[in-house]
Amino acid sequence: MLSLATLTLLTFATLSYAIAGPDALTGNTTLHDPSMCRDDSGKYFVFSTGVGIEIRTSTDRTAWTLAGKVWPEGAPWTDKYAANGSLWAPDCTYLNGEFWLYYSASTSGSRKSAIFLAKSSTGAPGNWTHEGMITSTSRFNNYNVSVQVINSENPLTAWIKAIDPNLLIDGGKWYLSLGSFWTGIKSLNINPSNGLPFDDSDVIPLAQRTENNGAMEGSAVFKFKNHYYLFTSWDHCCNGTSSTYNIRIGRSTSPTGGYVDKSGVALTDGGGTLVLGTHDNIVGPGGQDIMLDADGPILVYHYYTPDGNFLGINRLDFSSGWPVVV
Ligand SMILES: *[C@@H]1O[C@H](CO)[C@@H](O)[C@H](O)[C@H]1NC(C)=O
Ligand SMILES: *[C@@H]1O[C@H](CO)[C@@H](O)[C@H](O)[C@H]1NC(C)=O
Ligand SMILES: *[C@@H]1O[C@H](CO)[C@@H](O)[C@H](O)[C@H]1NC(C)=O
Ligand SMILES: *[C@@H]1O[C@H](CO)[C@@H](O)[C@H](O)[C@H]1NC(C)=O
Ligand SMILES: *[C@@H]1O[C@H](CO)[C@@H](O)[C@H](O)[C@H]1NC(C)=O
Repeated sequence: MLSLATLTLLTFATLSYAIAGPDALTGNTTLHDPSMCRDDSGKYFVFSTGVGIEIRTSTDRTAWTLAGKVWPEGAPWTDKYAANGSLWAPDCTYLNGEFWLYYSASTSGSRKSAIFLAKSSTGAPGNWTHEGMITSTSRFNNYNVSVQVINSENPLTAWIKAIDPNLLIDGGKWYLSLGSFWTGIKSLNINPSNGLPFDDSDVIPLAQRTENNGAMEGSAVFKFKNHYYLFTSWDHCCNGTSSTYNIRIGRSTSPTGGYVDKSGVALTDGGGTLVLGTHDNIVGPGGQDIMLDADGPILVYHYYTPDGNFLGINRLDFSSGWPVVV
């Protein structure tokens, strides 16, 4: 298993090859929970957490320009769930000339949350249609999935939370992973004709841990060669250089379960191999997404330095069967 020290050296070495520091890496852009897409013209888009969802574009994947918001006039259907219009952790997929954007509305520490879908043919600010709600959760709703209640002292907070969607397209089948902090990561079967869940879609558990109140969220499932890789963010986001996020993975030959880490521990049993954690002046990397670009799989995430929170971009090498940040 790759040690943290090795990972740190590797990451540092390649970061300095690709970029000269956080500002050069990011085009000096400050964001949380990025998701990256590339349109047919080759233009890059990064969508991220913020009021109305932030859109940044780039022609070279290095220098980013803030273009505007998905919903510059607001998104009233989210108001019931969000705080002051702040929308979380968008997930983009560019398919047949259209952007499909899943995103969540929630507040910290509450299960009252919802996931929505938007579409656009251009990706431009305001040029989006609201396609509907995927699912919502409340303090009285645990999706009726038989999840283990891991915080017995406070069972209400031990349930699932409808946040952090990520779409996996696997041939003709679509899956949305989501959730969930306290009770881990779940998957819904999605109807490819409209991007919404099938009426009878089961909620399938993909991963869960018990340490640190189960802190796990921000899932992204990426298919590469013979495996599905489930990336998750463990521990805590969004506390400056006290943030403890770290990116963990497992893999499976099925998209809907059987994920194990490099030591063979099931992800439903607390498993998760470290891909990227705090190193050097990079603190709390997480909120990640994976995109297949012309030069291979790309990991995008946010991290903290004493100067703020920044966009991180690294290539991933899957040649060993387990992704390594390069
Ligand atoms: C990056 O942005 C911050 C905040 O706007 C600014 O203070 C800083 O000087 C910028 N750094 C560079 C290298 O442009
Ligand atoms: C919403 O915005 C108002 C005004 O800026 C602020 O006072 C309040 O704390 C915000 N609420 C949340 C939950 O962020
Ligand atoms: C998006 O922009 C195109 C071109 O300007 C326009 O035809 C279309 O109606 C817009 N769609 C939305 C949803 O704003
Ligand atoms: C939960 O699901 C089980 C099995 O599908 C079903 O028997 C039960 O009635 C459901 N409970 C609720 C509250 O929907
Ligand atoms: C943020 O970090 C500070 C300093 O380590 C700590 O005291 C505080 O509890 C943290 N807050 C949260 C919400 O984790």
